[in-house]
Amino acid sequence: MRKLLWMVLACSLIFVMSGCGQTQGPVQEQLAPMESITDSEPPEIPASGNLAGSVESVPSQAGIVDSDHRKETGGSETAVESGYSFDFETKMVVLNSGYEMPIYGLGTYSLTGEVCVNSVSAALERGVRLIDTAYMYHNEESVGEAIRNSGIPREEIFVITKLYPNQFSDPEAAIEEALDKLDIEYIDMMLLHHPGTGDVEAYLAMERAVADGKIRSLGLSNWYINELEEFLPQVNITPALVQNEIHPYYQENDVIPYIQGLGIVVQGWYPLGGRGYTAELLGNEVISEIADTHGKSSAQIILRWNLQKGVVVIPGSSNPDHIQENTELFDFELTEDEMAQINALDRNEKHDWY
Ligand SMILES: NC(=O)c1ccc[n+]([C@@H]2O[C@H](COP(=O)([O-])OP(=O)(O)OC[C@H]3O[C@@H](n4cnc5c(N)ncnc54)[C@H](OP(=O)(O)O)[C@@H]3O)[C@@H](O)[C@H]2O)c1
Repeated sequence: MRKLLWMVLACSLIFVMSGCGQTQGPVQEQLAPMESITDSEPPEIPASGNLAGSVESVPSQAGIVDSDHRKETGGSETAVESGYSFDFETKMVVLNSGYEMPIYGLGTYSLTGEVCVNSVSAALERGVRLIDTAYMYHNEESVGEAIRNSGIPREEIFVITKLYPNQFSDPEAAIEEALDKLDIEYIDMMLLHHPGTGDVEAYLAMERAVADGKIRSLGLSNWYINELEEFLPQVNITPALVQNEIHPYYQENDVIPYIQGLGIVVQGWYPLGGRGYTAELLGNEVISEIADTHGKSSAQIILRWNLQKGVVVIPGSSNPDHIQENTELFDFELTEDEMAQINALDRNEKHDWY
């Protein structure tokens, strides 16, 4: 009888421990212009709401990284203070959802139709396995077409898409629309594009889609410290990623460590400053000098600087040469001094309005 009681107690303890906090995949130690959307609406203040309970997402074993291996890789990874780490050998990070995601990819803002299909195809041919799209980019169909045509196993490609605030009032329909347009079986990650009325409810709908196996990981875009503090207590699944504007002239040096400290991966948009700003940023004297030292381009220096800060990069490009160049980020390393020189370029200069 006493033995039985102990067994019941032990089982309850295991159950309580595994059920605590947000949903986690098997890798428990993980803490871990303009996108001038001219046809878009201004950002709104996050709404509130509350729901108890948790949604289970159990990733497949494929793509799960052995955490001990990551620790042993020493110089080949970037460990972010009390958060996740980038594996510079596999070029992957393990998300708090348990899924692996590439640490560099292709952004598709402003690429539509054939241009988008060709750009995504060029990226996939050059080894890029992370593609960022959004409802508001009007190109989910093209992204899906390029992926289906690539012949690359679906599991090897990681696709991020986003719900726009004007979709928050009917998130279930919006999720189905994204699944239909992409037509790639499931969505690796869905973000809320901006805070807005109904964002908590939209996120909770995405949580249900995770439970249904339609989406694998969740995230947010254009959420900063205040927005996160208000939002996180209202949801069950901690976002796996936050995508915000980050480049040498707008570094978010207060926001990045805060997000990373929550075990949430940071991804930067406009890594090269965004269209209309790239020439000035790429021509920056400090960056150009560092580029000369390494025999690299300014774009590669900026992308590598991001990676060494633990920021995932998704430069946008329709030029196959640039797409190729943006993959060649792993055969050199910036010194502490070079990192500091680029850190000193911050101007708190936002290149878009959100
Ligand atoms: N969540 C959000 O609110 C949000 C907002 C903005 C963007 N995003 C995402 O972030 C991605 C990146 O932003 P973005 O594409 O707008 O801006 P970006 O990546 O900062 O800059 C794109 C520009 O850089 C040029 N470029 C790319 N690689 C280059 C290289 N190696 N050398 C020289 N020029 C290069 C591209 O021209 P070529 O085509 O000639 O290469 C293009 O004009 C977007 O595509 C989108 O997926 C998200």
